[in-house]
Amino acid sequence: EIINWSIEDAEKSGYPHFMLKEIFEQPRALDSTLHSLLSRNDMDFDFERVTIVACGTSYHAGLVGKYLIEELLQIPVDVYYASEYRYRPDVVEDSLAIFITQSGETADTIAAARKAKVSGNETLAITNVVGSSITSYVDRVLYTNAGPEIGVAATKTFTAQLLALEYFAIRAGESMGKLSVSQVRNFINSLRKIPLYVENTLNLNDIIEKEAKKIYKNKDMFFIGRSMNYPIALEGALKMKEISYIHAEGYPAGELKHGPLALIEEGIPVIALVPEDITYDKMLSNIKEVSARNAYVIGVSSNMDVGKYVDTLIKVPETELYLSPFVNVVVLQLLAYHAARLLGRDIDKPRNLAKSVTVE
Ligand code: G6P
Repeated sequence: EIINWSIEDAEKSGYPHFMLKEIFEQPRALDSTLHSLLSRNDMDFDFERVTIVACGTSYHAGLVGKYLIEELLQIPVDVYYASEYRYRPDVVEDSLAIFITQSGETADTIAAARKAKVSGNETLAITNVVGSSITSYVDRVLYTNAGPEIGVAATKTFTAQLLALEYFAIRAGESMGKLSVSQVRNFINSLRKIPLYVENTLNLNDIIEKEAKKIYKNKDMFFIGRSMNYPIALEGALKMKEISYIHAEGYPAGELKHGPLALIEEGIPVIALVPEDITYDKMLSNIKEVSARNAYVIGVSSNMDVGKYVDTLIKVPETELYLSPFVNVVVLQLLAYHAARLLGRDIDKPRNLAKSVTVE
């Protein structure tokens, strides 16, 4: 009997797409990223400001990093798209510039790293590819150990980047005396739970697929969140656009009434991220604003009470403070994946897009 399998099928280990395989690989990818980070003994830092530069999904990781670093270290963080950073004047400051790039080959990010060096910044790259180009332009490198990512839409490397940023913020806080020994220990212990939180979120796959069936025929949708989950809303919308070709917008929930509310009409899906943190009450108010206009609201929360305010609640695992982005983004990755599959899209190779963009 001839086994009619291509090498590509074999590499997908039974999954219909690399993207789904990579989404499901996240617990393992996060575990190995954490292990490689924990083995580093060169995590001493000293800086007064941070500038983060990246493109696409890596840029969204950078935005989450901003909230984290500002929260843990109480120092200002600016985040730039690499393609915009180049128009910035050469301001010399006592800044650490962090370049986040899965591939390490994105031309704009590499150009930005060169510019940052010329401006006298200390530079650090967060990349998934050992020996990639970015590593030769920066002073230090943190590797995400997520394994190769084939799907054009980044998934496991995104959560690995978030983990690297969490770890960086904790260790920098430690070395700069901003976090106590017990705080550091508690934070690190909570990082160890992330793979399990993600695993438990993956168990929601069937529920998420059902939701995708309800929304995939829509032409537009909105993703809303606040604080650290605002970039997760952006990432959810980006995943949806990239692979399903549905027009999706991510918005900081508080900005709804400054424009997008005008677009809310009956049945338009609004995916609302409602972690149990300082944003909880405000998110519920935003949900009321869109339900009053008959939007179809999907709430993503660990709190069952949210069910009273939304059309469907996707109940995610409860996490420690600052870790909700990990579970929320997994829901949004799966939602985009299932919508794209129902639409028959070329999920691993979406039209007009490339895995790494090596032209500026
Ligand atoms: C391309 C990919 C995205 C990725 C972005 C940045 O647009 O399609 O998935 O987020 O490049 O890539 P990098 O390798 O620099 O993280």
